[in-house]
Amino acid sequence: MLGKLTAAGQAGQRVCLQYEQGERRIEILTDSIIRVYEEREAQVSKAIEKRPQEETETSMEYADGVCTIKTARVTVVAGENGTVDFYDAAGNAVCLDYRGARRQRTGLSGEEKELMEQEGHQGAAGNGAHLMEVLKQIEGDECFYGLGDKTGFLNKRHYAYEMWNSDIPDPQVDSFKSLYKSIPFLIVLKQSCVYGLFFDNTYRTWFDLGKECGDYFFWAADQGNLDYYYIAGEKMTDILTGYARLTGTAPVPQLWTLGYHQSRWSYKTEAEVRELAAAFRSHDIPCDTIHLDIDYMERYKVFTWGREAFPDPEQMIRDLGKDGFKIVTIIDPGVKVEEGYEMYDEGVREGYYATTPEGEIYVNAVWPGDAVYPDFGQERVQKWWADKQQFLIDSGVRGVWNDMNEPASFRGELPPDVVFTDVDQKKADHARMHNVYGHLMSKAAYRGWKEHDGRRPFVITRACYAGTQKYSTVWTGDNHSIWAHLQMAIPQLCNLSLSGMPFAGTDIGGFGSDTTPELLARWIQVGAFSPLMRNHCAIGCDRQEPWVFGEEITDIYRKYVKLRYRLLPYLYDQFFTGEKTGLPLMRPLVLHYEKDGNTRNCNDEFLVGESLLVAPVVEQGASRRMVYLPEGVWYDYWTKERLEGGQFLIREAPLDTCPIYVKAGSVIPNYEDQSYVGEKGIRRLILDVYPGEGTSSHYQDNGSDFAYREGEYNEYVFAQKDGVLTVSLSHAGYAKRYEGFRIRCLGKEEDTAFLGDKLTFLL
Ligand code: GLC
Repeated sequence: MLGKLTAAGQAGQRVCLQYEQGERRIEILTDSIIRVYEEREAQVSKAIEKRPQEETETSMEYADGVCTIKTARVTVVAGENGTVDFYDAAGNAVCLDYRGARRQRTGLSGEEKELMEQEGHQGAAGNGAHLMEVLKQIEGDECFYGLGDKTGFLNKRHYAYEMWNSDIPDPQVDSFKSLYKSIPFLIVLKQSCVYGLFFDNTYRTWFDLGKECGDYFFWAADQGNLDYYYIAGEKMTDILTGYARLTGTAPVPQLWTLGYHQSRWSYKTEAEVRELAAAFRSHDIPCDTIHLDIDYMERYKVFTWGREAFPDPEQMIRDLGKDGFKIVTIIDPGVKVEEGYEMYDEGVREGYYATTPEGEIYVNAVWPGDAVYPDFGQERVQKWWADKQQFLIDSGVRGVWNDMNEPASFRGELPPDVVFTDVDQKKADHARMHNVYGHLMSKAAYRGWKEHDGRRPFVITRACYAGTQKYSTVWTGDNHSIWAHLQMAIPQLCNLSLSGMPFAGTDIGGFGSDTTPELLARWIQVGAFSPLMRNHCAIGCDRQEPWVFGEEITDIYRKYVKLRYRLLPYLYDQFFTGEKTGLPLMRPLVLHYEKDGNTRNCNDEFLVGESLLVAPVVEQGASRRMVYLPEGVWYDYWTKERLEGGQFLIREAPLDTCPIYVKAGSVIPNYEDQSYVGEKGIRRLILDVYPGEGTSSHYQDNGSDFAYREGEYNEYVFAQKDGVLTVSLSHAGYAKRYEGFRIRCLGKEEDTAFLGDKLTFLL
């Protein structure tokens, strides 16, 4: 307990609060981002690399043990025992500390526990007290979103979670406390307001969102700093933009990475890979990327090729490249213990691996057997690992898939005292570095590809922390081929989107267990709109390439992959705006319709950008479903029927139909059909126009490198009003402009040239 607040001093936008026992600081980063912290350990944030610091008028008053700080948008009131309350500019309470004590649940008695264990149950543990706990009031209608890749539904109210990156192969269910990623960021939505909270602590942390008690929610930690950010905003989108200002945004990816990816553990030989590629072309299913899982390596040694199965990978990759295919290879952090293996020897010699407290190199086991763990916090290791990517680049590989970086370990979890290095080059233990291990590995990989390849790096990671979006794409790890996991894919990807992580995907078809024809057909319908579109499957499970279930399923699969390829320019636009705003491609309905109570728990629909609403069937045997359309006018994508929003409707949805709706006033840019990105030099863009009023931007660039950051891109603005479509070139920086447009509007179609900078078209 800090006791009474005895003094407060202001230095610029920082306020130092003195209590009877201890002190705390409040820092005003912008008029709507406020940091509250108490530094127990010297720490450099891994999530926030460029702290936003905006000069903003800040006033502070201290009287009678209460300190009031005001910005143009937020009032913060700090008082006794460290309470911190947030109000909006009009003085309405938004986020208040809870004044009472926690009502902890006690665990089972020893006898009860024993009884439970007889049948193999674990026996519920009590909810312990933590060294740091921040309790906030629940007023009543709060919904909670974000928190990364947690299981369950969209709204996290009444659930409790832990941030501890975990590789648990069991089929994931709602009661899982943690998965592979730790993103301690939360959006709290009430009918009256919305705000964000980011708890920047890399140790194991706990979040309880009204599970323990309906009167409060809390987050807690036993180590590290109390260090959190309050993000204010008018709308939910403001909160995401605020969070992006803190932790950064995902860079625009190479265009081909938004195409279709095929993976399996494993395509084991060169012949198999060539056959697979040929099958995509012969089945006329577009595909850009084939992923090689661990078997391409020599006995699972990272940065090697198993030359027996892949005698000439460079030639193979060149040949496949002629047909539009790119190869992405998996790389795990665990380096095989083997004298004479360069990676191992070099790392041992240079002190690149984590050690025991006694200074011995720490050994656990992953795929190659005994393995050691690169200490990614060391700058030297960052550089070393970045440079190692050259091996892949030299082979012609186009991206790296980082796995097992929680870090996974087959002989029990790494003890908390294994010695790593923090990014400030000070020694730090596993307890502190665990949750950022995947983050730091991805950061090194990103750096390597950026430096040595020069194009926008394509890095995928399984484990991550807040801020990893700057370096990597993610996938949600080892799901199963079960309907529950197709259902979970939607809220899980939407919550990743709401956690600043826009480029994410699930293993289409499911990783573990065997998929069914119907499940695969429905999964590709969700996959077609997932930011990362990859089919992946585990060793020993039935094959799930698009054509294995016969003609009907192949046709459905082809239909959605082709749809994806046509929509690529629209999907790409979402990343272009996302890099500036932090807004994701895949969005839960609540992000744009937060005042509408029907959206808050909507788990089986989502928006793609603002214009498309996707309502997939995620239930076995269903051939129709209830669809909720939020306010406004919508068009059925397939039938072009005009529908009033603000209503539930029943949509027929046989196996080949994924209900899709388009918001009136939208202009959706399309490419013509392609087997892979760049197959055709697209000079004519197809514009699907849905009557109404609206404005949107479309971006065009080389889809490959960072020239767009120097202005080498074109921005076209589509505006619709009173039956007139105007297309104007608002930024011209990329030489290969479209020569014309094909304008399609409810069954009518017309080609028009685009000669100047502006085009007006009567619909
Ligand atoms: C892990 C990954 C999975 C991969 C497998 C073998 O389970 O999550 O995607 O196929 O390891 O590398």
